[in-house]
Amino acid sequence: MTPASPMPEVIAIDGPAASGKSSVARAVAQKLGWTFVNTGNMYRAVTWAVLDTGIDPSDPAAITAALDRMGIDFKTEDGETSVCIGGKTLHAELTEDRVNKAVSLVASVPAVRQKLVAGQRALTRLGSLVMEGRDIGSVVFPHSRFKFYVDASEEVRTARRQAQGHVDQISARDRMDSSRKTSPLVTAPDAIVIDSSHLSLAEVIDRVLADLATRGLTPPTA
Ligand code: DC
Repeated sequence: MTPASPMPEVIAIDGPAASGKSSVARAVAQKLGWTFVNTGNMYRAVTWAVLDTGIDPSDPAAITAALDRMGIDFKTEDGETSVCIGGKTLHAELTEDRVNKAVSLVASVPAVRQKLVAGQRALTRLGSLVMEGRDIGSVVFPHSRFKFYVDASEEVRTARRQAQGHVDQISARDRMDSSRKTSPLVTAPDAIVIDSSHLSLAEVIDRVLADLATRGLTPPTA
């Protein structure tokens, strides 16, 4: 008889814009063989759809009314999820300047959050996940045993975005993301905080893996 499959686990990696959390989460997922989920891309995809259909991103009622017609779907490729809108998988569109500008507004609409959070929770059907975002440890999976908050100074984060060639209103987005009414960016009380301002990506990944190891979670040996 095959043993019952263990309950899927979720590692929550939250933090502000350009803190490096996505790269850390992807690397940790690859090490463990778990699925990587970038929830920022989900909010970006909805924002792209809002803009693409000519909806005013500052009109929550219009966004709410259009949400179910957008055909939001997730698919998994190479160990990570990507977002489709009406059957189209979005990549470069997600970091367009207009999306960077409008995403915090769209992400503050309660109906958008409800729909995406439900989708995020349902992804445990894929097995264990490493999920990055703003509210993963506080709202989406508050019972997760593994929560990290990756931070970095505003100067370092702005420089990282510039190095990626993107124009991004980091501080304006942080302000909006931290002050919105529904699931603002907060540090979950039981999260391990890592300030990555003076650490390399490899060092942050090592810290996360070292902490997981102290709690009995180690990558499978090849
Ligand atoms: O991580 P990012 O910069 O790609 O996220 C884009 C925006 O999406 C961010 O400004 C806030 C929003 N977001 C959110 O509200 N909740 C999440 N779990 C992830 C992102």
